Amino acid sequence: MAELRGKYLDQITAVADIDALEAVRLAAMGKKGEISLKMRELGQMDAEARQRVGPALNGLKSEIDAALKARRAGLEDAVLDARLQAEWLDVTLPGRPRPMGTIHPISQVMDELTAIFADMGFAVAEGPQIESDWYNFDALNIAPEHPARQEHDTFFMHRAEGDNRPPHVLRTHTSPVQIRAMQDQGAPIRVIAPGRVYRMDMDQTHTPMFHQVEGLAIDRDISMAQLKWTLEEFCRAFFEVDEVELRFRASHFPFTEPSAEVDIRCSWEGGQLKIGEGKDWLEILGSGMVHPQVLRAGGIDPDQWQGFAFGLGIDRIAMLKYGIPDLRAFFESDLRWLRHYGFAALDQPALAAGLSR
Ligand code: PHE
Repeated sequence: MAELRGKYLDQITAVADIDALEAVRLAAMGKKGEISLKMRELGQMDAEARQRVGPALNGLKSEIDAALKARRAGLEDAVLDARLQAEWLDVTLPGRPRPMGTIHPISQVMDELTAIFADMGFAVAEGPQIESDWYNFDALNIAPEHPARQEHDTFFMHRAEGDNRPPHVLRTHTSPVQIRAMQDQGAPIRVIAPGRVYRMDMDQTHTPMFHQVEGLAIDRDISMAQLKWTLEEFCRAFFEVDEVELRFRASHFPFTEPSAEVDIRCSWEGGQLKIGEGKDWLEILGSGMVHPQVLRAGGIDPDQWQGFAFGLGIDRIAMLKYGIPDLRAFFESDLRWLRHYGFAALDQPALAAGLSR
């Protein structure tokens, strides 16, 4: 009995893990375990022997039981300790930075110009990009045989054979929104209409889809002087400079009379565009006093009301403000390309951080 006790207590102390401890338990207390067999032998003993051996055996059994339990608890604690050690997490380590995107420059410029014109009392108007040719041309005083229809390099929507209704077009400018806004709101009216326009053009400064913002102000006595002030005020706010020189060149649009194309003074020195100074001019918009026919098409009486309109190329002023020399790269967002050409906006901390990874 003492020998059994010594043997199992020693083994229990010696085991290294829970599996080994379980093996010892089975050897001693399992169905065919040494101590279990001894317990079973009690049944065959005579009463006197049972009285002697029984209590000792029971004592041994509970002692070994207790030792097994204690050892198991110890081993489980050790396992937990090891796991805690392995899964230890240092919450004080600095985070891993992830590259962040930024808003597209065109979207940003649209937001900026919408805010600037809102300060001057212009609301935002919208129209469809697939437009009837009446809104895109006729209502703007561009007759069917007018050469301007060709000049616009229009994309025409497909019509089924035999369907002879006038075609729909991808709008070639934002000017149809003038008509829609006049029809919806009447006069007086002050709106801008930023959005996408389409022409079959593709070179250094043209892409088949680009962006314009239309401006329209109609009231009793709106004049060209107010057009000039509005555009200068816009350019000062947009380019964040005190003075911006604009050049008004007499021009022709069927929907304005008189008409002027407007250039902004700039320079390209050192691979960087500068606005407001230098010896170059960049055309940024077309403008003029709204033609009486256009007012009529919009349901407004030209004897009562007059006003100005302008159409400004958003991609160009985005390029001027953020310094992108070729418009096409703008859309492909080829970052290496932008770097190569000294994209000025790389100096903006948020964008630079995004690109450096
Ligand atoms: N719609 C003209 C264009 O796309 C621009 C313009 C708008 C000119 C309004 C005058 C008045 O070229």
